[in-house]
Amino acid sequence: MKKVIFSGMRPTGKLHLGHLVGALNNWLDLQEEYECVFSIVDWHALMGEYEQTQNLQQNILDMAIDWIACGIDPDKSTLFVQSEIPEHLELSMVFSCITPLGWLERNPTYKEQLREIKSRDLQTYGFLGYPVLQTADILLYKANAVPIGEDQLPHIELAREIARRFNHIFQQEYFQDCDAILTQTPRLLGIDGRKMSKSYDNAINLSDSAEIVSKKVKGMITDPARIKLTDPGHPEICNVYSYYKVFSPGKTKEVHDWCVNADKGCTGCKKILAEVLNEMLAPIQEKRKDLEGDKSRIKEILKKGKVKAKNIASKTISEVKSIVLGAENEL
Ligand code: TRP
Ligand code: SF4
Repeated sequence: MKKVIFSGMRPTGKLHLGHLVGALNNWLDLQEEYECVFSIVDWHALMGEYEQTQNLQQNILDMAIDWIACGIDPDKSTLFVQSEIPEHLELSMVFSCITPLGWLERNPTYKEQLREIKSRDLQTYGFLGYPVLQTADILLYKANAVPIGEDQLPHIELAREIARRFNHIFQQEYFQDCDAILTQTPRLLGIDGRKMSKSYDNAINLSDSAEIVSKKVKGMITDPARIKLTDPGHPEICNVYSYYKVFSPGKTKEVHDWCVNADKGCTGCKKILAEVLNEMLAPIQEKRKDLEGDKSRIKEILKKGKVKAKNIASKTISEVKSIVLGAENEL
């Protein structure tokens, strides 16, 4: 039997380059080898942005389009919307009964977000329980591994602990441990040098036109010591250079040389980077345009994914109910 991989993404807006190198490229490799289940986790989006749901349906559709345009193949992988499978909430409920509050309150990702995000009130019961629902997502499909970014590691650790606690309390080796698969690529920073994020308005989106990409790249912060064209640069501290490393590894030596020897200025260096990015994005955008014109196809794909997901989810829930409640599978 193929190993099962599960991952989810919150539909909070258009996908950007950070999603591509941080997650999607990894998913593309995984789908060739494993049974992959990828979920658009709209309940998780609600947990953090419960006051802004007006774009949610559009975002869900956009996310499905972006995924497929990047090469996630609905014939190989299962793509579905979390809220269409109510079993996520059932399992989450069971886990919420056995998860000690201290585990959730100590979660570093939770603490960081409470500290950093001031624009929304995240002191809610739901937000504290975010990783409990995430655990349910993963264990509902009995995933063996979960590709994630480093910030999500505490959540996977928690998922393992909840699985073990379930097994311990109910005296059964029902849930297996799941492993995190960390993406190898270094984290891509936004054009202002901070973490790339929609909320910082510093992202290059997969759907940005060539003109917008060029403009954004032009605005990227470079080595501050390079004021004149003749000043030698320090590529190691330049964000433009780190983009080359990710998107055009074959070119890095050349870029390094022209930078330290002051053979080329930052404007020229950025112009070439913009070309590299636009060339990479062109086929994705072409596919995106096709898909945008055929929404019924996207809906069909999500419906098919829902049926596949439902099959697995309902089986797990009936087993869990029988373990936890002693319920008969069919009354
Ligand atoms: N919490 C994840 C994030 O913000 C999204 C997510 C929800 C997820 N459920 C998941 C990721 C299950 C992996 C597995 O990125
Ligand atoms: Fe950065 Fe390129 Fe300028 Fe060097 S030449 S500082 S790598 S933008």
